[in-house]
Amino acid sequence: MPRRVWFPGAAFCLCPWAIYAKPHGNGSTFLKSRDFVMNRPKLLITGPGGRVGTQIVPLLRSHFRLRLADRNPLPIAAGTDDEFVLADIRDFSALQRACEGMDVMLHLAAVSDEADFHSQLLPMNIVGLHNAFEAARLAGIRKVLFASTGQTVLHYPPGQPVGPEMPVRPWTVYACTKVFGEALARYYSDHFGLSMVCIRICWFQGYDSPLLKTQPEMHPKWCSPRDLTQLIVKCIASDIRFGLFFGVSNNAGRYWDISNAQTAVGYQPEDDAAKLFGIQQ
Ligand SMILES: NC(=O)c1ccc[n+]([C@@H]2O[C@H](COP(=O)([O-])OP(=O)(O)OC[C@H]3O[C@@H](n4cnc5c(N)ncnc54)[C@H](O)[C@@H]3O)[C@@H](O)[C@H]2O)c1
Repeated sequence: MPRRVWFPGAAFCLCPWAIYAKPHGNGSTFLKSRDFVMNRPKLLITGPGGRVGTQIVPLLRSHFRLRLADRNPLPIAAGTDDEFVLADIRDFSALQRACEGMDVMLHLAAVSDEADFHSQLLPMNIVGLHNAFEAARLAGIRKVLFASTGQTVLHYPPGQPVGPEMPVRPWTVYACTKVFGEALARYYSDHFGLSMVCIRICWFQGYDSPLLKTQPEMHPKWCSPRDLTQLIVKCIASDIRFGLFFGVSNNAGRYWDISNAQTAVGYQPEDDAAKLFGIQQ
């Protein structure tokens, strides 16, 4: 069963979640977590109703006050204090309204695999992505997490160790749109001083996914809901100005390098597909 994730030092932070000035690079300010205990930060999640969102929203709820923005209505669990906003990321005004009063954005909404460029990828993964970052900036959100993909480097030979500093070798045009997102995130960090974190989610599957049992060759790439949640929580708690991390679990045979996430935010993935699903590599 997924457990609640936490980060070192949380129990010692008693001040409200705050934005404070800290000299860094051009002297701009960025977020610093001061409290995950007394006041849950306000997290806007775009696209929470998909494969990823439906798995991690329940795990994020104990850490954050959630506003869920999707183009489709979502069932909101009874007894939670989630807010729901109907918003299409192609509609800049709707996104601006969704951002009002929020501390952090987790941008999931996208076309999530290969699709026609002009009718699908361009309006959603390029224009919609820019809308999201710009709406966040104008609303005063100081930290944005962007869901990128392991497909950005999938043309390296299978099994070859790949680090986040290596040149991209996108697998699809979809992955190229995510490379654009990573570049735009870097721009928003360098130019506007926002804290921007790109997570290259690898092969995300819920614990009950039958694919985990039938596709053991994919196990080294698995990203579990619990580990992705841990990475998100730790990225939000950290004061990093920019991050580009692989979102992948502690799988046997993993060849995507997570050492920068371990160093920068203390990411320690716990799940190993082979151990959990009883299949030896
Ligand atoms: N699932 C994976 O294994 C995986 C791997 C790498 C990266 N990612 C990325 O993670 C994110 C989430 O992936 P997913 O698998 O949950 O996607 P999904 O396609 O299952 O769900 C996408 C969600 O976004 C919403 N959405 C789509 N278009 C929208 C729009 N125009 N405005 C507002 N909401 C919109 C949908 O209603 C849905 O709730 C995506 O950015 C995807 O590229 C996913």
